[in-house]
Amino acid sequence: MVSTYRRLEHRDATVRLTHAEIGSHPEAETTVLLAPDAIGVCRSDLREINGTRHLRRDFGHEIVGTVVSSDPPGTVPTGQRVVLDPHPAVGRTSGFADLVEIWGSRSDVTAALVPLPETSGTVRSVFVEPLACVCHCLGRLDSATQEAGADPIGPVAILGAGMAGTLMATVLDTSSVPVTLINRSRGRLSFLIDRGVLPPAALHTADGPLGPAVPRVIVATAATDTGLLDLAAERVTPGGVVLLYAGTRPGQTYAGVDLDSLRREERTARITRAGKSFHIVGSHGATREDFVRAIHLLDPRTPGRQELPRRLDRMVTTVLSLDESADLLNRLARGPFMGKAVILPSPSPDSTKGLGQ
Ligand SMILES: NC(=O)c1ccc[n+]([C@@H]2O[C@H](COP(=O)([O-])OP(=O)(O)OC[C@H]3O[C@@H](n4cnc5c(N)ncnc54)[C@H](OP(=O)(O)O)[C@@H]3O)[C@@H](O)[C@H]2O)c1
Repeated sequence: MVSTYRRLEHRDATVRLTHAEIGSHPEAETTVLLAPDAIGVCRSDLREINGTRHLRRDFGHEIVGTVVSSDPPGTVPTGQRVVLDPHPAVGRTSGFADLVEIWGSRSDVTAALVPLPETSGTVRSVFVEPLACVCHCLGRLDSATQEAGADPIGPVAILGAGMAGTLMATVLDTSSVPVTLINRSRGRLSFLIDRGVLPPAALHTADGPLGPAVPRVIVATAATDTGLLDLAAERVTPGGVVLLYAGTRPGQTYAGVDLDSLRREERTARITRAGKSFHIVGSHGATREDFVRAIHLLDPRTPGRQELPRRLDRMVTTVLSLDESADLLNRLARGPFMGKAVILPSPSPDSTKGLGQ
């Protein structure tokens, strides 16, 4: 067994490739060594590099990997393919590496490692984690719609065409739910049209004509502010649902509602803004069921579901080895970032299996 391995770390807003020693975690009930097969780059990784991510540290969390060992032995089967669920409270090293050390209570470590079928494509499976959060959000939207008595198959408007908003729109569009995706600037929308991810008719800039109001609106921008929520309030029909998925700050309020606790505690409030009354609903995190659903949605053998994985494959812009990736992350952290970049610690012909099917 090797004792040193390659690992990307960031300090002073710069990512470097380092050689790390496998540590010991004697205080932990369980330790697992995971060998990442592919790691997706998420916008929050870039915020961590730049020091603009608050509260959470999750560098390299979109991991598809194989369990190398566990202590006590057999806690998680050696050779098991998994994706990381970053929500359980485990300690871990950077995910952009040949190995990831994961430690914590037995229940948290096993909860953090979601089994992945052998047949799942390696690169494609980096979408499992963000898609699980999206499945959770769309589940919240369905239950809130039902509680509000709003139209359950009515159109949905999504504000923000980052990865979160794009995944939501693509899941809905491929499920035949009418959806519009509204973004601040044109660039990301052109990218989605060029890649054949969403039809041009579904894509709008926030300053253009947006058509009639809809019963359900999701706010999926990087951060929430009053202007955005006013746009959501304008887009929603009276009695409808505005689902808050975007980042919130502690103490942030809108129409007298504490947005941060509403989102994190997944509560619902009825508010009135500019004479219109509607429901505002929080969505936060994902459960094991959401991960299982995301894995199922990405499986091209799922009946009627070939189209979603095909479209998500087209979102992959870059596939790079670990040696080349410090430069990539430094560049992405400083410039515009579209689509999905994927890092392969040990590239092999099998790694891209499933892509383009
Ligand atoms: N609730 C949860 O469980 C959960 C889970 C994961 C992530 N999140 C949150 O979800 C958010 C979205 O993540 P992401 O990775 O998709 O973010 P992202 O890549 O930063 O994308 C944000 C998008 O919002 C657009 N935007 C910003 N202001 C806008 C406005 N006023 N009107 C319309 N569009 C606007 C941006 O437009 P441009 O193209 O002009 O830049 C960009 O396309 C993050 O805040 C993240 O923390 C929540």
